[in-house]
Formats: sequence, C-alpha cells, structure tokens
Amino acid sequence: MKFSWFEKISFGLLIAAWAIYGSHMLGDTLVHAEELKKPAYAVAMADAAPAKGGAAAVMENAMTMLASATPDKGAKLFKKCKSCHTVAKGGKNTVGPNLWDVVGRAKASAAGFKYSGALTDKGGDWSYADLDAFITSPKAFAKGTKMSFAGLKKAGDRAAMLVYLRSLSDSPKPLP
Ligand code: HEC
Repeated sequence: MKFSWFEKISFGLLIAAWAIYGSHMLGDTLVHAEELKKPAYAVAMADAAPAKGGAAAVMENAMTMLASATPDKGAKLFKKCKSCHTVAKGGKNTVGPNLWDVVGRAKASAAGFKYSGALTDKGGDWSYADLDAFITSPKAFAKGTKMSFAGLKKAGDRAAMLVYLRSLSDSPKPLP
C-alpha cells in the first residue's frame, strides 16, 4: 500500500494529536492520584505561612501558640496594662474597663464604663481572634478607640496574654 505525502502528514498529525491527548489524560490521572496521597499539603502551607511575615500570618501564629502559652507569662506582661485595667472579679473600671471574664464577653459591655463609639460600634463578643487583633494594635482594630496602647507585637506575648485573660474567669472559655 502506498500513501501520498499528504496522507502521511495527515496520519502523522493524527497520531501526534492522540499522543498529546493521551499524555494529558495520563498526566491528569497521575496528578490527581498524587494529590490524594498528600494530605500533608495543608500542614506544609501552615508551616510556611509565618516565614512570610504578613499580618494574617502573624495573627494566625498567636492563635496557633495558645495551646502552649502560659498564663504566668501573660500575668507578667499585664504590667503594661495595669495602669488602666483592673482584673479582679467585680473590680472597678479605671482608665479602662475591668477585664474580669473578658474572653467571650460582649464587646464594650463592662457596666458603668463609657466606651468610645469605635468599640461600641464593633458588636459581637470578644473571641480569641478579635482580642488578638485588638491587642496587636488597638487603633488598627478599632479606629478611634480610647485605649491608647501601642500594642503587643510579638505573637508569643499575645498568646500568653490571651491565656492569661482566659484565666480571669470562674469558667474559662475553651481554647479555639
Ligand atoms: C493607657 C490606658 C490603657 C492601657 C495601657 C491598656 N488599655 Fe485596654 N482599654 C483602655 C481603654 C480606655 C479601653 C476602652 C476603649 C474604648 O472604649 O475605645 C480599653 C479596652 C480594652 C479592652 C476591651 C474591653 C471591653 O470591655 O470591651 C480589652 C480587652 C483591653 N482593653 C485589654 C488590654 C490589655 C490586654 C492591655 C495590655 C496589653 C491593655 N488593654 C492596655 C485603656 C488601656
């Protein structure tokens, strides 16, 4: 059997097309199988995040450090807050509101304290994540807040502060 040059080229192209299509299919199959075999992917991402040092990464960092943070360290760091806050149950509001049982408490809800609109407008309860954001930079979290405090920049310090604040309660809220 003899083929013309045109037929040869046509067959050639057809075979090439099949080969490319086939390898795509095969490639897809292999890649899918790979993904399924690798649930460690998400963990690798989490590990990589702090290295980038973005704001979100820093916050996530403090949240992931909660389990290993100690209230004792937080109590020491609270020296920075003492000039404005009492922590005892039924303690007085001073420059700032009393912080007994603040974790999970409705924002801006200490009885008798005159909050700024910045905080009353926020709404919702103080979750660990919101407290973390507020303590990182009060002004960034609640623009116009009366709390004139620069913020705790180290994630480890904030984690310690959060577990300390958590301990100021008759029934501490579960860690996230
Ligand atoms: C210079 C005084 C000052 C310092 C220092 C300070 N705060 Fe405050 N804090 C305030 C004031 C004032 C408010 C009320 C803010 C408003 O109404 O905008 C406040 C509000 C808060 C709230 C919200 C409470 C609520 O009832 O909604 C938390 C939580 C808090 N402070 C934690 C801290 C922590 C933790 C520190 C130390 C790392 C600290 N503060 C340091 C003055 C201060």
